[in-house]
Order: sequence, then C-alpha cells, then structure tokens
Amino acid sequence: MQGQYKALWLDKDNNLEVLDQRVLPFEETTVTITNTQETIEAIKNMTVRGAGIIGNVAGFGVYLACRESNGDIEKLIYLAEQIRESRPTAVNLMWAVDRMMETLLNSDLHDLELTQELLEEAIKIADEDCMRTEKIAQYGADIIEEIMLNREIDTFDILTHCNAGWLAIVDSGTALAPIYEAKKRGINIHVWVDETRPRNQGANLTAWELSKAGVEHTVIADNTGGHLMQNHMVDMVITGADRVARNGDSANKIGTYLKALSAKDNNIPFYIALPSSTFDFTTLDGVRDIPIEIRSENEVKYMRGMDSDGEIKEFQIVQSQSPALNYGFDVTPARLITGLLTERGVCDANVDAISEMFEDLI
Ligand code: MRU
Repeated sequence: MQGQYKALWLDKDNNLEVLDQRVLPFEETTVTITNTQETIEAIKNMTVRGAGIIGNVAGFGVYLACRESNGDIEKLIYLAEQIRESRPTAVNLMWAVDRMMETLLNSDLHDLELTQELLEEAIKIADEDCMRTEKIAQYGADIIEEIMLNREIDTFDILTHCNAGWLAIVDSGTALAPIYEAKKRGINIHVWVDETRPRNQGANLTAWELSKAGVEHTVIADNTGGHLMQNHMVDMVITGADRVARNGDSANKIGTYLKALSAKDNNIPFYIALPSSTFDFTTLDGVRDIPIEIRSENEVKYMRGMDSDGEIKEFQIVQSQSPALNYGFDVTPARLITGLLTERGVCDANVDAISEMFEDLI
C-alpha cells in the first residue's frame, strides 16, 4: 500500500492528507496535516474519526512529531504523549502511539534516519490494518452466506450502527467490510443505516459510503431498529468497535447497546467486527472500566445540514436554557454478542476464547 489509502495518504512532501469527515456527504474536501498540533486537532475535532483511522493518524502523527523535534527525544516523547491523550475511548489511538514509541525506543538511529524509520512503521501499521479488514470481509461474508443458505432468503437485511466502513478503518472497514464482500459475491444485500444522532455518522458517512459502492440501503432514525427487528426485517446486526475488553464487552458509538438488547430479544445474530488492534487486553471488565468520552452538549443541541438553497448551515434544535448530556459511546456486554468478527475468524465474546485466539498478543 505504501502510504496511499482511501481515507488518508501521503503527499509528495510526506505530509498526511486526510478526507475531511466533518463535511461529508455534502462536500468532499481534504485537510493536510504537517505537525503534531494539526494531528491532535484533526483527531479532537473529528476531521478524522473511527477507531482505526484515529490510530493510523496518530501513528503518522508520531512520525511528524519526530520530524518536528529535530533530534530532541524528550520533546518527541512529550509530543507523542499529547497525541496519545487526544481522545479517550478508541484504543487504537493508544495502541498505535505505543507501537511507534516502542520502535523509537528500540532504535539506535538519529534524526533523519529515525524519522524515516518512524514513517515506515506508521505505513506498516496502516498496511496491516488493510490486511486485517480484508480478512474480516471474508469471514463476515462467509457467515452471511451460511445464514442465507440455512434460511433460504433472497435478500439479506443487515442493520449497522454508526460508521465502521473505509472512512473509519483502512481500507475496507470492519462492519462494512463483509457487506462490500457480500456484494462482490453477488449476494442481494440491503443495509439499514442508523446513528442519526448525536453525530449522524450513519446518515452522513455510512449512507455516503454505501451509495458510492452501489449497496442498497435505507437510513432510519435510531429508534427504529427495535421495531424492524420485531417485525423480521433484520437478518443480522453488525457494528464496529472502539475498544473491546478482555471479557468481550465492547464499546461502540452510543446506542449500540440498545441495538444489541433488541437483537437478543428477537433472536437476531449480533456481531461486533474488529481488528485485533481494537482489543484492550488489559481491561478485564469492559462495562465497568472502559472510559467513555463525554462530548460537547452542542452536538445534541445543534444539527448541521443543507438548506433548500443548497447552503450548509447549523441549526439550534434545543432551547438555549436546557442543558444537554452527550456520551459518545456505550458498552455492549459480552453476553449480548453472538461473536467477535476478527481477522483470525469468529471468536466467542468471552475471556477464555479471546485469550486462546489472541494468546500471542496478550
Ligand atoms: O466518535 P467516533 O466517530 O470516532 O466513533 C467511532 C465510530 O465511528 C464508531 O463507534 C464505529 O462504529 C467504530 S470505529 C471502527
């Protein structure tokens, strides 16, 4: 791949270019990231978002920090720590920074050669993510085929929450990877798309990705999922994850837990798709211990959209004097998860199965 991915790539000066995810689907623009401060801003203000891409940008950010530090290792360590702290829940961020720092600490190179080595490591991290999503695509599409055969259905209806496509993790996504692969295999697939609040990443990002790929889909309000499941209109739920604990509890965009409860009540398979870089093996109990980001109340009180003249505007939808509370994520307990769809195959969501399948990484 060598530093060229669908949602981020290197320019001729080895600066990082990213698709600006804040303005999709109405505008397709890019942002250039040249130093640590811009890396942190892009992660914090959600120019880039989604666990995998956050990790990739952080990896490249450490390389940019090295370029900026001119051989001052203490400064580099300080800057890397600032990147590591830019968002709290998606563990790929910490994982990627730690891996870059390990490369740094194991290296006896200096200045230019060290910068080059860190650039290569950041590319390697992203390349490995690409391979992982490719495997997730295959395993996930196999499950879809198997369910279709057993149930003799013509069209497969999947519900996904938020965006875990190629905007969120290079280069096929996690939750959307099996969907793209199923389409390639000629399966009739239809996707119910939600996360229509608070960030609208289903409505804005997943719907955009799916229409670009020609995948049939329908956007629904977040509250619609339960009704659809109760009325046999969903064959499977797949979502991505921002952090999965050692016991299988999985943090994902707020609202995922409610989808999982509904799937359980209606006997619908509920899968979490993730690369191994999204595991947090040190957190033993996810519901208790995964840190949940609280974001600005303005994401609840305002909405952004296009008016009838085609102008992009922000609208206030809650009176000013009412406070709002905006948790970014929730944790789905392992008992509600049918399986964790990983690059090594489907893993049961429990401590024994995870420890066995990922023993070499723990
Ligand atoms: O706040 P975000 O957009 O960074 O949240 C992350 C997500 O988009 C989702 O939770 C997603 O489903 C998992 S990211 C592979």
